[in-house]
Amino acid sequence: MTFFDRISADHLIGAHRGFRAFRPENTLSAFTASLGRCHFVEIDVQLTKDGIPVVFHDSTLKRTTDAPLVGKRLRLHSLRINAWTLDQLKELDAGSWFLTSDPFSTLASGLVSQETIQAQLPQKILTLTEMLNWAMRHKMPVNVEIKDQSGSKFDKNVVSIVLEVIQATATAPQILISSFNHDYLFQCKALAPHISVAVLQSDQHPPELIRYLQAIGASAYHPADAITDSALIRMLRAAGFGINVYTVNDKERQRQLFADGATAIITDFPELP
Ligand code: G3P
Ligand code: MG
Repeated sequence: MTFFDRISADHLIGAHRGFRAFRPENTLSAFTASLGRCHFVEIDVQLTKDGIPVVFHDSTLKRTTDAPLVGKRLRLHSLRINAWTLDQLKELDAGSWFLTSDPFSTLASGLVSQETIQAQLPQKILTLTEMLNWAMRHKMPVNVEIKDQSGSKFDKNVVSIVLEVIQATATAPQILISSFNHDYLFQCKALAPHISVAVLQSDQHPPELIRYLQAIGASAYHPADAITDSALIRMLRAAGFGINVYTVNDKERQRQLFADGATAIITDFPELP
């Protein structure tokens, strides 16, 4: 049983960082709000100073936490997430920023109420273990995107650390691992061939794309919408690969991609058909 066997629908909706247009991204609040709106959730994984995988997008804490304030109290001068231990990260509120940033203007337009967000504060940064336990309870498939740890002391073993959590939470059949760092995907298939992986790409396609995906043992390709067209979709589907396009918020574009044969779209506004 793999990630794609778990989902029987044709046109899959992936909730990008949870329901990030309506809730603070990558938080329990966002994941809970995505229930009933998507076939799978996409999350980002970074490592803490003590090597614990946590669900977080940026390499620094500045945009989506109150770390500038809390850091002063804890006498921590760096805002890089890998300069903070898990205990220190658990002191942070990863939700309040949404009220002031309103990243998709959903507060300003009245689609989301301040009170709803406020009632769910603070939002704590989740460990990958906590998130996958949630996913197990809700039978929610998860696209785990491993963020590039190049240059950090955990670059060499981030993959085995993430795989250990997947093993410990018994969630392998509902996981699709993706990364812009394709070395991580090679490592995943070597260490855990039963877990599905997908190749993420934002700008240009790797040369000899089909052969490249085959060499990795990928199940799917995850291109940015900007580099996706119907010829690419047709080529991938004919070769037996899934093609899951990010980040597609425009409904008409979603329809077109599905009509062209895309297997999934990853969106900030998840909604089941
Ligand atoms: O996995 C698709 C998408 O999440 C990749 O970009 O920066 O939003 O993690 P980013
Ligand atoms: Mg991501």
